[in-house]
Amino acid sequence: MKNEMWSGRFDEASNELLKEFNASLGFDKTLFKEDIEGSLAHSAMLFACKIITEEEFKAIQRGLEQVKAEIERGEFVFDIADEDIHMAVEKRLSQIIGAEIGGRLHTARSRNDQVATDFKLFVRKQNLNLQNLLKELIKTLLIHAKAHKTTIMPSFTHLQHAQPISFSFYILTYAFMFERDIKRLRASFERADFSPLGSCACAGTSYDTNRALSAKELGFKNVCANAMDGVSDRDFALDMLYDIAVIFTHTSRLCEELILFSSTEFKFIQLSDSFSTGSSIMPQKKNPDVAELIRGKTGRVYGNLIALFTTMKALPLAYNKDMQEDKEGLFDSVKTANESLIILNAMLKELKINAKNMLQSCKKGHLLATDLADFLVREKNIPFRKAHFIVGELVARAEKEGIDICEIKDLSAYNPIFDESAMKFLDFTHSLNLKQSEGSSSVKSVEKQIALLEKFLEDN
Ligand code: ARG
Repeated sequence: MKNEMWSGRFDEASNELLKEFNASLGFDKTLFKEDIEGSLAHSAMLFACKIITEEEFKAIQRGLEQVKAEIERGEFVFDIADEDIHMAVEKRLSQIIGAEIGGRLHTARSRNDQVATDFKLFVRKQNLNLQNLLKELIKTLLIHAKAHKTTIMPSFTHLQHAQPISFSFYILTYAFMFERDIKRLRASFERADFSPLGSCACAGTSYDTNRALSAKELGFKNVCANAMDGVSDRDFALDMLYDIAVIFTHTSRLCEELILFSSTEFKFIQLSDSFSTGSSIMPQKKNPDVAELIRGKTGRVYGNLIALFTTMKALPLAYNKDMQEDKEGLFDSVKTANESLIILNAMLKELKINAKNMLQSCKKGHLLATDLADFLVREKNIPFRKAHFIVGELVARAEKEGIDICEIKDLSAYNPIFDESAMKFLDFTHSLNLKQSEGSSSVKSVEKQIALLEKFLEDN
């Protein structure tokens, strides 16, 4: 029997295979709230523009509220034959208030603008949620940053010892990445502040509608200026997927370092037992599974971005069913980001820092070589390139003797250019606070950085 919504034009009913294959209801029911919000706003606009009567408007509102309540209570029967959430909601509405009135809701709109609206509303909500989770993460990093302004650790380039820094300075690096992630999300939110509702199938409508009205009702600042663009645009989803991909670039780097720095080779930090796992065979093991999983999930998050890029590439205007493929990957990325940021934050709150081991590690790898070269430039008026060479020779000799330059008792015995005043440059805390440039690792500079981030959190 033909019972499809489009059956007027068809002689035959849908094949069962097509019903399954074509339907998005299995996953787009996630959007039921947004779908109903959109319909509420649309019907209010239809009434305000005298396209439906007050009586019809009130019946539609009442019906939609009931549909929402039924879904929330788990009483709603999702039928794959309805194809998607838009049709499922509309069909139930007509069952509740009668097809004569229920059938008027779809005046001056199409599923194409409905799906674009619902999806955009969902993405915007998730955008704000991720911003909040990132703020929480920054707050946790700031707690560590405040506590470890003078906790010395080695910095690395090429994963080789570079110069002494503080743990505070190190961890603030990630806080600034997450600050930019919030700003990136905010910029995406702004770009998505245009309502597609009322674009209709692709060309607008002959009814005298007021799109600004439904846009305002839904919290959009503007309406999409071009109806065809309104229904064809999925940039907002790509923006979100990209923003999440960048967040995971950052969390994966942080997690990689949590894994590395908690290893026996480093022991700079200690993850709490409650966020570690054991081995089924090796009794001594304590594994950083959470950090590894977040690092690993970066793959699917990148994949979801590339998948939607590929779906959208070269699609002719306007709506094509290909675009139904926009949702599952985004739902997955959003869920992955949500869960990962929550557990990462909880784990970081319990992070223990082994200051002693970090300091011990500074005594290897000639971390103070740059400070000695700078000493020669500043106090002995030697050009930096020459100073670099002199200290290079010093390092080479120390290497041969199997010691670190910080262990040298008398620098002048190695090279008379180093007098007594050079000796204080073999101190790590001294080295840290020698740094004067903006953004450096000195206590003063780190305090400024903390203040910047605190101001950012306060203002946003
Ligand atoms: N389920 C569809 C999607 O998710 C909704 C829009 C369908 N529009 C259409 N003309 N078939 O993209």
